[in-house]
Amino acid sequence: AALLSGIAAAFHPGLAAAASARASSWWTHVEMGPPDPILGVTEGFKRDTNSKKMNLGPYVLPSVLKAEAQIAAKTLDKESLPVGGLAEFCKASVEPTLGEKSRVLKNVFLPKPSWVNHTPIFRDTGMQLRLKKKKKKNILEQSALLLHACTHNPMGVDPRLEQWKEIATVAKKRNFFVLFDMAYEGFASGDGDKDAWALHHFIEQGINVCLCQSYAKNIGLYGEHVGTFTVVCKDADEAKRVESQLKILISPMYSNSPLNGAQIASTILNTPELKGMADCIISVQTQLVFNLKKKGSTHNWQHITDQIGMSCFTELKPEQVEWLTKEFSTYMTKDGCISVAGVTSSNMGYLAHGIPRSSSNIPGVKKQGQPFCLQPLLLGSSHTE
Ligand SMILES: Cc1ncc(COP(=O)(O)O)c(C=O)c1O
Repeated sequence: AALLSGIAAAFHPGLAAAASARASSWWTHVEMGPPDPILGVTEGFKRDTNSKKMNLGPYVLPSVLKAEAQIAAKTLDKESLPVGGLAEFCKASVEPTLGEKSRVLKNVFLPKPSWVNHTPIFRDTGMQLRLKKKKKKNILEQSALLLHACTHNPMGVDPRLEQWKEIATVAKKRNFFVLFDMAYEGFASGDGDKDAWALHHFIEQGINVCLCQSYAKNIGLYGEHVGTFTVVCKDADEAKRVESQLKILISPMYSNSPLNGAQIASTILNTPELKGMADCIISVQTQLVFNLKKKGSTHNWQHITDQIGMSCFTELKPEQVEWLTKEFSTYMTKDGCISVAGVTSSNMGYLAHGIPRSSSNIPGVKKQGQPFCLQPLLLGSSHTE
């Protein structure tokens, strides 16, 4: 992302004549990419003049504003960070997540469905993606396995503890390379430690996992692009060797991490009173359903309270989302996903009034189905799907 933010395609008018003389350009056959489904939502919101409009997309949390004020008051320098990033941020990020376990401080199989960017991330690095649904015993030994640590995106539902245990057993037996993606720590249960249960369990089983933590969603630092990458190693010596190799990869890719977002995240993680947003998010979901019922909806909205995390699938259809945007100036992505952080006590009633009107033709709540679709991939034939 840091690299992308510096890339621009430009056209110089003075080159027009030369361009027409040129038989073809390097870029003639470049196809137009599809519009970004999330950025379009915010753009539409900004253009809307309705005083009651609401944006259920990205939202700046009060804790971020306070952290920024604290940082500004310190008048810090703008020196580049070392290749390994901001040390106090990395420490604050990984320590609560791995807790006590921090002493241990190829083919890729993805859940189906998974976060939309997982497929291109692995495909574009040349890895073989495996998403087979039906054949159960096909995960080869030493394959890479990507797992959502908590608050699975897009399902919003996580495996139960017994299921995690079973996954860990198979992962250990078949010597999988396990990568946890953790983008919603603290939002599944309101307790970061509980949300890291699966991670702790895998490490306890002696599986040296890799962990990607993102602070885009749980702190709302989307545009700052803050995250950490942790590799659990067998001992300190191995950790040093692995870290040295990671730095060799990082240097030519992006030199070192951007400073600002890391400072904000670090300030929040290291200041107890700036944390504590999850409880408020959980109550937003409960309050939304309460208000929907209060506004006369007889629809079963249990899927909203069943979901965990900041993103919430309303199960509204694209045409219903379109209707809500047009009639109620309510902006959300076409798949009906809202950021519950954008729902406040002042706009809750308006939203709860609008949703039932747009959803009156929902033919019934779609079944959530098997929330964790890796199951059929992972389990041997002795298990039932
Ligand atoms: C599963 C998952 N991983 C990672 C991210 C965020 O990644 P980044 O911090 O690169 O924006 C998200 C956010 O949408 C996500 O849902």
